[in-house]
Amino acid sequence: MALVTMKYEMSKAEKGRYAVPAFNFFTLDNLIGIAQGAANKKSPVIAMASVGAMKIMGEHTTVRMCEGVASDFGIDMILHLDHCTDYDMICRAVDNGFTSVMIDASKLSYEENVELTARVVEYASKYGVSVEAELGHVGGKEDDIVVSEREALFTVPEDALRFVNDTGVDALAVAVGTVHGFYKSEPKLDFPRIEKIHELLPHMPLVLHGGTGVPDDDFRKAIAGGVRKINIGTELKVHGVFDVSKQGYAQPGDDPRSVSKLVIAKCASIVEEKIDVMGSANKAG
Ligand code: 13P
Repeated sequence: MALVTMKYEMSKAEKGRYAVPAFNFFTLDNLIGIAQGAANKKSPVIAMASVGAMKIMGEHTTVRMCEGVASDFGIDMILHLDHCTDYDMICRAVDNGFTSVMIDASKLSYEENVELTARVVEYASKYGVSVEAELGHVGGKEDDIVVSEREALFTVPEDALRFVNDTGVDALAVAVGTVHGFYKSEPKLDFPRIEKIHELLPHMPLVLHGGTGVPDDDFRKAIAGGVRKINIGTELKVHGVFDVSKQGYAQPGDDPRSVSKLVIAKCASIVEEKIDVMGSANKAG
């Protein structure tokens, strides 16, 4: 049991019409909870390190931690570098054993995005490492931006087709109405846009970012429309780690190890809930 590439799991998900859940982690307890939940449900799982989290944990430690945890739980795990804008850092992640990387050049022009993404694909593919890129722009905490301005950043289906042909990416993050972080009002996903992109790119796994706070039914509709990877970060960080730790440490004289156990159990239970919604249970292996 080991770290595996994302490409294979994505093609299985396309055939089975489900999504592989991807969770951000930044501590060992957090990661163990993710592995525990995936093992309990026999689901494929993607563990994502953000650039900030990887800097805290260290590149080598991040990879070795994931290898160890995958082995202890007897599961295959995909280790993904999330939202990286730096070519050199991506190359180091590939060299050190990440099995999947995201180049996020979504704030650049179309041409610059293509140029940088294609360079990453050229490097990563030599090592069998999968590459995700973003076209359009999924923002964060954008409550001050009016909807029409936000929609201007949505992925244009015809551009998506051109971008995939121009770059050779393995997965495409699309901007279709989600944002990173908690929502102040109900998210409004553009399902026809997802379906149109999937129609033009039937074999390209589409990635939905900003999974925290998206209702289960919206996940199901997005998956029916062609989404094959769903990212969840804030929910696990806040409800899986922060709230539980705050409560645990509020008991005077509490043993930090009991807090670790609580964090692991809560993260695992959130992961299991998401796996049920995404339809990835019993799809491991
Ligand atoms: P949330 O923090 O909104 O769940 O988004 C996570 C994400 O998309 C990471 O790339």
